[in-house]
Amino acid sequence: MKTPSLIHFTEKDYDHVYEPSEDTFLLLDALEEDAGLISELQPTLCLEVGSGSGCVTTFLGFLWPHAYYMASDINPHAAAATKKTGFHNGVPIDPVLSNFATGFGARLHKAVDILIFNPPYVVTPSSEVGSSGIEAAWAGGVDGREVLDQFIPHIEGLLSEKGLFYLVTVKENRPLEIMAHMKEVYGLYSKVVMTRRAGIEGLAIIRFSRVEH
Ligand SMILES: C[S@@+](CC[C@H](N)C(=O)[O-])C[C@H]1O[C@@H](n2cnc3c(N)ncnc32)[C@H](O)[C@@H]1O
Repeated sequence: MKTPSLIHFTEKDYDHVYEPSEDTFLLLDALEEDAGLISELQPTLCLEVGSGSGCVTTFLGFLWPHAYYMASDINPHAAAATKKTGFHNGVPIDPVLSNFATGFGARLHKAVDILIFNPPYVVTPSSEVGSSGIEAAWAGGVDGREVLDQFIPHIEGLLSEKGLFYLVTVKENRPLEIMAHMKEVYGLYSKVVMTRRAGIEGLAIIRFSRVEH
């Protein structure tokens, strides 16, 4: 599957919006690996939290062009960039400026068939967490988990019965602990779909679901 065109961005845009990197591309590869499962489930509503450039949701729109695509980002430049990337690639996306999915209120309760989050996962001082600028793309605080840990309690309530949740992690986030927690507290099964070493980063894409796949 082709990668979305990003020629509408200049180098300067990436001063404000996360430039698709190894983590983004691993996520695209994992979604492509799961293309069969995704088409089997026939998703109708997809939400990417922290959509950045919009590259991931646009790619999902290429893979499965039959759903309604929503996105959120805490960074206003990213929300605008997501809309632009969708438009330039023929994938309509409705981005919302929001902290996680809170902007949608209860309307997405158990409604999201594909949920995606590539969170700010880098270990940083806690004081760097909480910006709505470009730092929000990477600053993850203690264990790189502070932002993800705020989102975790909302995941199960967003996922539809057949829903899949794709999460990007690095080894410092202790992915096995996240997987165990999601099963124990929320009853969600998980599977590591893909791993890759990129420089110092040990990346993994984990897929969570209510039923085992
Ligand atoms: C690592 S970047 C990923 C961007 C894009 N999804 C990709 O894979 O290239 C993380 C994104 O999450 C956004 N973000 C961070 N905290 C957020 C929050 N609380 N709610 C929504 N988006 C958030 C950042 O602004 C940034 O765009």
